[in-house]
Amino acid sequence: MKTVIANWKMNLGIRESVAQARGVLRGIQGKEVLPRLVVCPSFTALAEVRKVLVRTHVELGAQNVGPQRVGAFTGEVGAAQLEDVGCKYVMIGHSERRTTMHEDGAMVHEKVKIALESSLTPILCVGEDALAQIARDLKGIEVPRKGQLIVAYEPSWAIGTTNAAAPADVVEMHKALRSAVEQMTGISGDRLSVVYGGSVDAKNAYNFLREPEIDGVLVGGASLKIHEFEAIVNAAADVMIAQSV
Ligand code: PGA
Repeated sequence: MKTVIANWKMNLGIRESVAQARGVLRGIQGKEVLPRLVVCPSFTALAEVRKVLVRTHVELGAQNVGPQRVGAFTGEVGAAQLEDVGCKYVMIGHSERRTTMHEDGAMVHEKVKIALESSLTPILCVGEDALAQIARDLKGIEVPRKGQLIVAYEPSWAIGTTNAAAPADVVEMHKALRSAVEQMTGISGDRLSVVYGGSVDAKNAYNFLREPEIDGVLVGGASLKIHEFEAIVNAAADVMIAQSV
């Protein structure tokens, strides 16, 4: 199974997010083979996008979560609130948060823990320092028996540029990440997905997705262009059909 995640970042209002979600659904209409599909709107749009996606193949994710489940944390959105609004996934530790918002390993670690203690699947984003980040972010983390984890390898120089990493380099990094995560948390196989992000577009998506080591893609800019995103989803489906995965 391949995974395609849309990260809309801080771009769309409620109406635009709803339109974008409808566009994603139109793009998959009638398709029998589909990757796991997750869209991550801004907090403000989650409730309305949920209404569009409910009982469809497309899952809802948030772009961030507070480091506590509930409580006196002014300005944060907690894991319980994300569950309440229908999120199944949450992005944690995106490079824009680690750099611009100064989130450190300890903070990311708390967020991964809180997501896993809730029913959310973390999409843990790591950059070119991926192995050192994983060592801090996942130290002592216990993944519940049925819990899942997605690790997104996103070198910061590849994010928001047209400068995607070379698939061969990504494959090497994913191998290293997979074994590091397995050693630290014991999770492997279907419960662990390692996806690539950073300037993925309709032209290069297939080159990443056809690699068995690359379980999927996390798409920023190109996920805002509906036909481009549809082409990426189609590339994932093509690979799944060709490789029977
Ligand atoms: P990009 O963003 O696809 O625009 O490079 C990816 C991300 O930041 O998750």
